[in-house]
Amino acid sequence: MSLANKNVVITGGSTGIGLATAKQFIKEGANVLITGRSAGNLQKAANEIGSPNLKTVIADTSNFEGIEALKKAVAESGQKVDVLFLNAGVASFAPIAHVSEADFDTQFNTNVKGHFFTLQKLIPHLADGSSVTFTSSGVATSAAVATAVYSATKAALNKIADIAVNELAERKIRVNIVSPGPIKTPGLDSVAPPEAQAYLAASTALQRVGTVDEIAGAVVFLASDAAGYINGADIAIDGGFIQYHLK
Ligand SMILES: NC(=O)c1ccc[n+]([C@@H]2O[C@H](COP(=O)([O-])OP(=O)(O)OC[C@H]3O[C@@H](n4cnc5c(N)ncnc54)[C@H](OP(=O)(O)O)[C@@H]3O)[C@@H](O)[C@H]2O)c1
Repeated sequence: MSLANKNVVITGGSTGIGLATAKQFIKEGANVLITGRSAGNLQKAANEIGSPNLKTVIADTSNFEGIEALKKAVAESGQKVDVLFLNAGVASFAPIAHVSEADFDTQFNTNVKGHFFTLQKLIPHLADGSSVTFTSSGVATSAAVATAVYSATKAALNKIADIAVNELAERKIRVNIVSPGPIKTPGLDSVAPPEAQAYLAASTALQRVGTVDEIAGAVVFLASDAAGYINGADIAIDGGFIQYHLK
């Protein structure tokens, strides 16, 4: 599909990977709706993008109230959604012995429940032939210590995506996953101090962390006609993250 005038919804579109992806879709001539919890982040994103084709919706998609707010905004637009990028995510890291119930719930509610029910509620609003992309992570298939909860959320998301591929196939909706390695974002900065980021960079074959544009480009590609036969793929965008094979 040509992306001009297509309608794109990005959850967690106010900073990091989501914001970069919103910018690239806007450049392609699409109409983009982004969500986030913080009105301030959304306003900053809107100022940065500075396009009448961008809409922002304050919606905490870790709960039904937020998902309903997003659904209402989509319904009110009167347009079908051509591209859904389920990207909002949070991470915190601790050994299993020290994980709190709140840490567990926040990550599962945001990274799993939120995406599951956002997809469910938006299914009637998706155009036939649309593109759905989930942001997972390479950690879904690794076993690094202190990542049990976050990694489990991403592994769960991968399974939901796999099944969505089959359930939505009748309407020719393609469902894919992008699995970033370490990407320089406010989210990464909040959990990994510079020395940890240097370690992550050294854990990749390319010896650097990735950029948000390197993920955004893949999401835009997956939404395009050029990816018309890509369905059920999990694209690792991680510079060759050799650490995955270590414990
Ligand atoms: N950066 C990496 O190294 C990396 C690697 C692998 C996977 N990922 C995944 O990539 C995705 C984006 O992460 P990022 O690094 O770009 O992080 P980020 O800069 O922290 O961006 C996260 C975005 O999600 C929004 N968000 C968080 N919780 C939300 C909720 N409950 N409801 C709605 N929006 C919410 C944030 O806005 P508010 O805070 O205002 O809500 C923000 O727009 C996540 O799924 C993350 O797990 C990142």
